[in-house]
Amino acid sequence: MASESSQATVLVTRRVPRAVLDAIARHATLRIWEGDNPIPRETLLEWLPGCAGLYCMLTDRIDPEVLDAGSSLRVISQMAVGVDNIDLSACTARGIPVGNTPGVLTETTADLALALILATLRRVIESAAFIKAGQWVTWRPMELVGRDLHHSTVGIIGFGRIGKAVAKRLRGFDCHILYTQRSPDPDAARLGAAYVDLPTLLASSDVVTLHCPLTVETRGLIGARELAQMRQEAILVNTSRGPVIDQAALVEALAAGRIAGAGLDVTDPEPIPSDSPLLSMPQVVVLPHIGSATIATRTKMAELAADNLIAGLAGKRLPHLANPAVYPEA
Ligand code: DGY
Repeated sequence: MASESSQATVLVTRRVPRAVLDAIARHATLRIWEGDNPIPRETLLEWLPGCAGLYCMLTDRIDPEVLDAGSSLRVISQMAVGVDNIDLSACTARGIPVGNTPGVLTETTADLALALILATLRRVIESAAFIKAGQWVTWRPMELVGRDLHHSTVGIIGFGRIGKAVAKRLRGFDCHILYTQRSPDPDAARLGAAYVDLPTLLASSDVVTLHCPLTVETRGLIGARELAQMRQEAILVNTSRGPVIDQAALVEALAAGRIAGAGLDVTDPEPIPSDSPLLSMPQVVVLPHIGSATIATRTKMAELAADNLIAGLAGKRLPHLANPAVYPEA
């Protein structure tokens, strides 16, 4: 006999691993957007009525209009840790638990942050392009010289899971590690990181790396004033969310040589327009939001999102919940 949840319909907004779809299909009927690109807004609104579950991506804007269309939704599960694309208070007000995927992408994203820091400091992408363009004539003492990571001062903004995993890696480079966030973290001493306020961090760091979520407080956190507080030889690295940086101010600071470079895995908007000045600046490395993009990690994210979804369909507490206030006891 079919259980209550096996009669439910779930909308999955992108192709995810087959095994994950099969796992969800044991509990619900699937309505899958098979495209590689985001589900069109009209299709999302058209397909949601009658769905009990929504399995979505960070590229889907989940706002009151979507929630109105999905008036039967009992759970929303996003295949990402960041949920800034979802109006969490609107979901909470409607009693819809929202799942996300913390933890499984921490180490992979920290690896990418280090790759981006090193690529930017050591001009790795520029050097590879130089050789492919046939410009390498001979070894020259001062050609393509960059900056050292080892023994430098690195300022981490946001000392959550990923910020700490970055700190752990930086210790291997003998870096002096600073961090800032609302309040000091008890783990910081173990990781050799010192708590400072934002202006001190900006003024003291050779590398400033962003690891905070995008919230009302962090939108535009790094603007013209903060960029002016950075050292002229410093670089800014972002693997969190594009809008944490005021991108127009960043372009200006880079063009004026007020900071030395930037490594951006995330931009505002995404995709970054192909005519963005950032793309023609040799001191800037831009990547297409690949922080968590390894086969193992994306698979784990897809599985965790399925676990959240299935729990929600069954009326159980989600293993990873982005809006705990949805449960009355919280
Ligand atoms: C997330 O999970 O929020 C990441 O940005 C995806 O890479």
